[in-house]
Amino acid sequence: MLRETVRALADDKIAPRAAEVDETGEFPWDVYKALVDADMHAVHIPEEYGGAGADALATVIVIEEVARACASSSLIPAVNKLGTVPLLLVGSEELKRHYLEPTARGEGMFSYGLSEPDAGSDAAAMRTTAVRDGDHYVLNGTKRWITNAGVSEYYTVMAVTDPAAGARGISAFVVEKGDEGFSVGAKEKKLGIKGSPTRELYFDNCRIPAWRMIGDEGTGFKTALATLDHTRITIAAQALGIAQGALDYALGYVKERKQFGKPVADFQGVQFMLADMAMKLEAARQLTYAAAGKSERAMHGERVDDLTFFSSACKCAASDAAMDITVDAVQLLGGYGYTSDFPVERMMRDAKITQIYEGTNQIQRVVMARQLLK
Ligand code: CAA
Repeated sequence: MLRETVRALADDKIAPRAAEVDETGEFPWDVYKALVDADMHAVHIPEEYGGAGADALATVIVIEEVARACASSSLIPAVNKLGTVPLLLVGSEELKRHYLEPTARGEGMFSYGLSEPDAGSDAAAMRTTAVRDGDHYVLNGTKRWITNAGVSEYYTVMAVTDPAAGARGISAFVVEKGDEGFSVGAKEKKLGIKGSPTRELYFDNCRIPAWRMIGDEGTGFKTALATLDHTRITIAAQALGIAQGALDYALGYVKERKQFGKPVADFQGVQFMLADMAMKLEAARQLTYAAAGKSERAMHGERVDDLTFFSSACKCAASDAAMDITVDAVQLLGGYGYTSDFPVERMMRDAKITQIYEGTNQIQRVVMARQLLK
């Protein structure tokens, strides 16, 4: 039922906007409003904070169905989850009430600030600092590649509070869009997900109250990685949705397109491609759903030792599958697939980012191997 509901919304309000959003690179505020009206914009927020209370699997299904229509729009529910999981995991009750409730009401979105110009895969090498000053912290530094920066109201930001302590000297904070000393840079010019702005964040003596620290001082890096254990699954969901969109479009096309006097779907070479695409997609989907089950149990305090492995594995498998499937969809449409008159070239460009963000697929393999060798 949930899938049908989101698909109907996506077919009606999101899919018709996808090509234009890609073309203009503008954030789709109308889609955000439609998602807010349907309570799908931050669907994971628990009911006690005014949210829809969707579990991890339901959240995956929502993101998947939005991504099937428009990958840029699927970053609305996905990044709202990414920005708020640190609060859900270790935030104080005051912090949760203060920020989750307006996010659930659709009054502001939440971004996640971990990466920096010189700290991407090596996230612990960050240089942004937060220095205690009475009841405040003063932040200085730059974050890079921040999804939905500028359109988000709230930002979870990791910063160094004890430079001598390495990864154990990093703490997490909430920064608000209007905080003095906080600003954002120009939009990056990207290959895909063009309707979701990616910008730098600048902290220039940005003074924030100490109660906005998420969890204890020095736990920010662990919180950042523990968050990714939950949210790499949402990137897998996005990849599944993009791939499903491309496969569905290609399936329709090969039945219509005639060459040598018959639909190209009648050729076994084409059938083998379709079968491989669907097989890779379904394998990745089942892995992602299994990971979502583990994420949900971990969120409820159960010890789930293989969550880290499953989260990296599904993100890696689903994004690699999405890349293969979208490239094959373009191939199946031939010259038409290579033009922006058809949606599959957009899906191919959008798929690429899923192999890169929330940890490159090379980093996912590092994470998986570390779990195996532990
Ligand atoms: N959960 C909780 N704690 C964890 C953890 C996890 N999954 N993994 C590691 N830790 C802990 C370790 O136990 C260690 O703590 P102790 O010192 O107390 O033992 C600490 O964190 C540091 O761990 P490592 O020594 O393993 O850290 P590392 O420096 O070797 O880095 C890494 C590990 C896996 C390479 C990590 O840096 C990483 O995942 N890098 C990729 C960064 C990334 O994914 N960025 C994504 C940005 S967000 C984004 O892209 C969003 C978007 O646009 C949509």
